Amino acid sequence: MNLHQIMAVQFLFIILIFFFTFVSADISPGSTLRASNPNINWTSPDGTVSLGFIPISSSNPTSYSLSISYSSIPIWSAGGPSTEVDSNSVLQFTASGNLQLLNGSDYVIWQSNTSNLNISSASLKDTGEFVLLRNGNISAWSTFENPTDTILPSQNFTLGKTLSSGLYSFSLLRSGNLTLTWNDSIVYWTMGLNSSVNVTLTSPSLGFQSIGILSLYDQRLSVPYIMAYSSDYAEGSDILRFVKLDSDGNLRMYSSAEGTGTMSETWSAVSDQCRVFGYCGNFGVCSYNDLSPVCGCPSENFDFVDPRDRRKGCTRIKNIEDCPLTATMLQLDHALFLTYDAELSSQVVVVGTTACRFNCLAGDNCQASTSLSDGTGQCYLKASDFVSGYQSAALPSTSFVKVCSPAEPNPPPDQGNLRGSDWKLRPWVIPVVVLATVVALFALEGGMWVWCCRNSPKFGELSAQYALFEYASGAPVWFSHKELQRATKGFKEKLGEGGFGAVYRGILANRTVVAVKQLEGIEQGEKQFRMEVATISSTHHLNLVRLIGFCSEGRHRLLVYEFMKNGSLDNFLFMTEEQSGKFLDWEHRFNIALATARGITYLHEECRDCIVHCDIKPENILLDENYNAKVSDFGLAKLINPKDHRYRTLTSVRGTRGYLAPEWLANLPMTSKSDVYSYGMVLLEIVSGRRNFEVSPETNRKKFSLWAYEEFDKGNVERIVDRRLLDDSVNMEQATRAILVSFWCIQEQPSQRPMMGKVVQMLEGIMEIDRPLTPKPVAEGSASGTSINMSSNASAFSTNSTSVPVPSSSSSLQTAELEGASSTFKIRADVKLSPDL
Ligand SMILES: *[C@@H]1O[C@H](CO)[C@@H](O)[C@H](O)[C@H]1NC(C)=O
Ligand SMILES: *[C@@H]1O[C@H](CO)[C@@H](O)[C@H](O)[C@H]1NC(C)=O
Ligand SMILES: *[C@@H]1O[C@H](CO)[C@@H](O)[C@H](O)[C@H]1NC(C)=O
Ligand SMILES: *[C@@H]1O[C@H](CO)[C@@H](O)[C@H](O)[C@H]1NC(C)=O
Ligand SMILES: *[C@@H]1O[C@H](CO)[C@@H](O)[C@H](O)[C@H]1NC(C)=O
Ligand SMILES: *[C@@H]1O[C@H](CO)[C@@H](O)[C@H](O)[C@H]1NC(C)=O
Ligand SMILES: *[C@@H]1O[C@H](CO)[C@@H](O)[C@H](O)[C@H]1NC(C)=O
Ligand SMILES: *[C@@H]1O[C@H](CO)[C@@H](O)[C@H](O)[C@H]1NC(C)=O
Ligand SMILES: *[C@@H]1O[C@H](CO)[C@@H](O)[C@H](O)[C@H]1NC(C)=O
Ligand SMILES: *[C@@H]1O[C@H](CO)[C@@H](O)[C@H](O)[C@H]1NC(C)=O
Ligand SMILES: *[C@@H]1O[C@H](CO)[C@@H](O)[C@H](O)[C@H]1NC(C)=O
Ligand SMILES: *[C@@H]1O[C@H](CO)[C@@H](O)[C@H](O)[C@H]1NC(C)=O
Repeated sequence: MNLHQIMAVQFLFIILIFFFTFVSADISPGSTLRASNPNINWTSPDGTVSLGFIPISSSNPTSYSLSISYSSIPIWSAGGPSTEVDSNSVLQFTASGNLQLLNGSDYVIWQSNTSNLNISSASLKDTGEFVLLRNGNISAWSTFENPTDTILPSQNFTLGKTLSSGLYSFSLLRSGNLTLTWNDSIVYWTMGLNSSVNVTLTSPSLGFQSIGILSLYDQRLSVPYIMAYSSDYAEGSDILRFVKLDSDGNLRMYSSAEGTGTMSETWSAVSDQCRVFGYCGNFGVCSYNDLSPVCGCPSENFDFVDPRDRRKGCTRIKNIEDCPLTATMLQLDHALFLTYDAELSSQVVVVGTTACRFNCLAGDNCQASTSLSDGTGQCYLKASDFVSGYQSAALPSTSFVKVCSPAEPNPPPDQGNLRGSDWKLRPWVIPVVVLATVVALFALEGGMWVWCCRNSPKFGELSAQYALFEYASGAPVWFSHKELQRATKGFKEKLGEGGFGAVYRGILANRTVVAVKQLEGIEQGEKQFRMEVATISSTHHLNLVRLIGFCSEGRHRLLVYEFMKNGSLDNFLFMTEEQSGKFLDWEHRFNIALATARGITYLHEECRDCIVHCDIKPENILLDENYNAKVSDFGLAKLINPKDHRYRTLTSVRGTRGYLAPEWLANLPMTSKSDVYSYGMVLLEIVSGRRNFEVSPETNRKKFSLWAYEEFDKGNVERIVDRRLLDDSVNMEQATRAILVSFWCIQEQPSQRPMMGKVVQMLEGIMEIDRPLTPKPVAEGSASGTSINMSSNASAFSTNSTSVPVPSSSSSLQTAELEGASSTFKIRADVKLSPDL
């Protein structure tokens, strides 16, 4: 062999190597790939990206998807991410240039429709793009132009393209907004240009840079507009970043280091997964178990469509059509049904919670409703066939779902979790449960032992732990007197003096600030006291002060309450000049009035053991750090024997007489209507900022409440309203409503006073309020009682009825008569009467 020959061979060799490296990326028509041999695939020049059949999961090797993958992470799939084919499937790159995926029975599952485009070859690029080429190098079709669920760096995502995954899709609008849509109808997420960028785009396109920046491009934009950053942007090398629409409806950015095959989330469009419409299917309710979203059903009136896949939603066990007369509304606290602007099938009205419930019950098509408790009073009536729920303690709304009676709420959260989460019985669970039970029994025995020996100081530590255990189970915590002495630093910081004893500020061992009430004059035995404490502490409501624990030791009787940062309402209403820092505007006052009414309603009508408060006054309405009102001291009246004369003396001596109903003076039994009277007095004071029993030259030496009625009669509503509010933005309609309600509440005849539930509805504006009768003066000290027979003839008040606008949302307005005031008290409830009413 001479030198020339050697050189010729070398040259040929080099040509061959060059040919193979170069051409191996090119695929010629006629090539095929088979799912039965997944190791043969088409690979990009640098080997990082390949196109071939990949098993859907390692546990199920009979089902495949035809995908382009990067280190085994799929970045494009023929027919979309949910297309699965069997192990006899074939991908054919036909001689005519069409790319088609056939399943085992030669059925065309997917094709590129490129038969007549003179395709000469195909190529898989290192960028992850697979192109069909015409005339050697012109792209006729590519995966970048036909994306499935992923956007890769250097991919140009233009108008009209969509990413899709199941019912979810992502697209770009002409305005430059990015949107996520459910079932081509509900847009549940959108993000657009900052409003300070004032341009009209011509043909926007979206690009994703490999360093992790998602930007919007347009001729009109001088620089690309950055939409989102990956949390690790511009970090590291050999990291593939991409944007993917996941099957859970969220758009996310991921980073994957080369060769690892793992990906980590670096950005997501919807930060609150439960806000993705339809995430839990129809009637599914999304909630969080720790940080992961879980799906449940609204109540036991529903079943999972597929218990193994709870995201498929829920169905009614009994259809509404099958129970037209017994339909009722199931209440879901802290829950909402997702409502987005584009959803035309939901109607928005502004009414209170109760009307929101009734309006849906009365509506033929209404499936569910959500009442926002964020102050807007908005109520969404869901008429569509698909509703998507979200429940979380942090949501300020209440929802209702129409079900057939009886409504069967889900069991409480600890068991409810099992229903809502993906909990499965595993073999090791049973021994663990048995062991835990044994341990719990020992703990219980230990607890009882500690209980018996708790007075011995040696067990102080254990008893504190036991107290926590007890708290966790929902019962009030037992505190020793010593503990409370320590917590209050020896009863040093006095917060106030209530009808039942002094209140001190204290700090528990776990740094929780509390209010400790030292009860006086309680002669009851330990057992009776514990029973009352149990009743009080089982009474939970947003507008009632929570009882944390108690102490009953020897003659000591103490109650430990949650601490209310802003103290009692009287400090804000009747302040002196030097306190003028404390002032409540009208909005706060009205909310306090409503909250108080709701709290009392709960005590009277909604809780298990109904409680008459007997001592409602501004001093017993406490405000938390956000000025939310909570009623305190409920249930205490029972602690003192009602026949005990001392109680009466106690109360009257302590000066709450101004709020006491006339029947009290007449020595008649106190009923819930007595609380209504006291509430009416408080309500008037909230509006006026003055004590009702105040007598001044300005009020013609009359008691304020009587003077107020006279002024109201003359039409001078403004004179009743707190002067300090008038220059502020006081809502006169609300104020008038509140004044009317207060006059109804302070009617002398208990039967003429409305029930608290009605008071709430009147304040909310759900009911029209007729002109009240004049509240007769209650002679101080005289036990005139019920012998005064007031005219309850409506014609005596032929004046114009002061109507409060009723939200006009309903089809039929009906007139119902309010209990107890037959001839005069007409209400118009904008709801149809139904069996549920
Ligand atoms: C493609 O084929 C190569 C070699 O045959 C193999 O190592 C690789 O795992 C295959 N890729 C996929 C995604 O199956
Ligand atoms: C191929 O697809 C068709 C249509 O979806 C289906 O009817 C057929 O059962 C499939 N064949 C196999 C082997 O999966
Ligand atoms: C090819 O054409 C069929 C029928 O018109 C269509 O269903 C399919 O979506 C097309 N495929 C692509 C990749 O556009
Ligand atoms: C394909 O090639 C033929 C002949 O070269 C030409 O007439 C035809 O226009 C081409 N079709 C396309 C879609 O380019
Ligand atoms: C395609 O190939 C032709 C000739 O082979 C060349 O002139 C042209 O620049 C190539 N175009 C691209 C986009 O590579
Ligand atoms: C994306 O494609 C559109 C339309 O083909 C084009 O106008 C635009 O310049 C492209 N954007 C980028 C960043 O390449
Ligand atoms: C999606 O929309 C279509 C047409 O609007 C409708 O027929 C279908 O029931 C919807 N899907 C669901 C799950 O509601
Ligand atoms: C675009 O998105 C912004 C939020 O970024 C939103 O306020 C606006 O209404 C959206 N515009 C359209 C047309 O969807
Ligand atoms: C818009 O951008 C400006 C400056 O880039 C920024 O100060 C402003 O907060 C942005 N506005 C919104 C609504 O994001
Ligand atoms: C946006 O620009 C147009 C004309 O360029 C101008 O008329 C309009 O007032 C601008 N709008 C804002 C909100 O700056
Ligand atoms: C502190 O302890 C009390 C009762 O023992 C309990 O009610 C409260 O929730 C605890 N606070 C915290 C922050 O754990
Ligand atoms: C009723 O109201 C009208 C207008 O508000 C007033 O003119 C009329 O005097 C009122 N009637 C009575 C009886 O007060």
